[in-house]
Amino acid sequence: MFPGYPIEDYLRHQSEIDAALKTMLTKGSYILGGEVSAFEEEFAAFTGARHCIGVANGTDAIEVILRAMDIGKGCKVAVPSHTAVASASAVGRAGAETVFVDIDAETFTMCPDSLAALLESENGEGVRAVLAVHIYGHPAHWSRLQEVADTYGVLLLEDCAQAHGAMVNGQMAGSLGVAAAFSFYPTKNLGAIGDGGAITTNDDALAERVRCIRQYGWRKRYISDCEGVNSRLDEMQAAILRVKLRTLTDQLSARRALASRYAAGLAGNGFVQAPISRSGVDHAYHLYVIKSPHRDALMAELLGKEIPVALHYPAAIHQQPGYAHLIPVSAPLSATEKVVRDILSLPLHPYLSTDAVDFVCESIRSFVP
Ligand SMILES: Cc1ncc(COP(=O)(O)O)c(C=O)c1O
Repeated sequence: MFPGYPIEDYLRHQSEIDAALKTMLTKGSYILGGEVSAFEEEFAAFTGARHCIGVANGTDAIEVILRAMDIGKGCKVAVPSHTAVASASAVGRAGAETVFVDIDAETFTMCPDSLAALLESENGEGVRAVLAVHIYGHPAHWSRLQEVADTYGVLLLEDCAQAHGAMVNGQMAGSLGVAAAFSFYPTKNLGAIGDGGAITTNDDALAERVRCIRQYGWRKRYISDCEGVNSRLDEMQAAILRVKLRTLTDQLSARRALASRYAAGLAGNGFVQAPISRSGVDHAYHLYVIKSPHRDALMAELLGKEIPVALHYPAAIHQQPGYAHLIPVSAPLSATEKVVRDILSLPLHPYLSTDAVDFVCESIRSFVP
């Protein structure tokens, strides 16, 4: 009843993917060849951004953007703590310091008031950039964050790892900020069969620097203009992503239809709150995350019925042993710490049947706390 997403996605497009790989393999160009450049053009067109530069994964995408903007040692980057740990670990890898901002408990995205309070405080000194995460596929509150960023003269960046196809007033995530980082981890809305990532931007000079940095700092072969890294999108993954990109719009429609079905099936239930979309936003529904004060009992009941629910994430970044000492919290993160106890991700992907969604909703309706 609950097929796995990455394998199902491969099986549904197996012949096209296998054919694309065969063509790529026989061309003999295995690093930054025609597949990567074609994918970069096609994905830039999808997001509406002027440039797309493929990199090895989403974590590198964030790091390379920061390096390209000279945001490193001595600089701070404001990040929500309610996100994948990669959002903050990439900041550290670029040499900069993470400072956490609380979230808005309704949409799980960065709270603009909390950002303004940080930038107004002593700990806000040295903040050069804000990494707004479009968590679960719901875009961050862009106009408000932009206002705050403009007021304090900081750059606004997007973490789009969960937001392929999300929109704000008709504008695609990935074309909103100074630059955006995408992940193509296999479970993402657009997933490779392995690791992959990309950076999108409308800034020509920044795109040029990103291209240099992703490959040893080379502008010309064997001549490094700046310090770089090795973070290239693989030709095989690019060939696969080109096939999958052609299906993304239909997959987003399927995700949105299933999300509406969940919302109808859960309406009026006093024990759970379905996800809320801010007006003007097109949610990409990478994940369908409900909240419940009885989360642990509900989770146990659903797992008992073999419904693959999960926690994204069981702890905020500042609560995790590897980061708690590295990134001290300077202001209360009360909304973050509250939602972490209440959230539960229900199964959602384009190949889930309506029967499966109805079964999950019935199971939740029959739950007695
Ligand atoms: C919000 C967010 N940012 C960054 C990343 C990092 O992407 P990757 O796993 O491709 O390095 C992820 C992936 O899990 C993510 O969900």
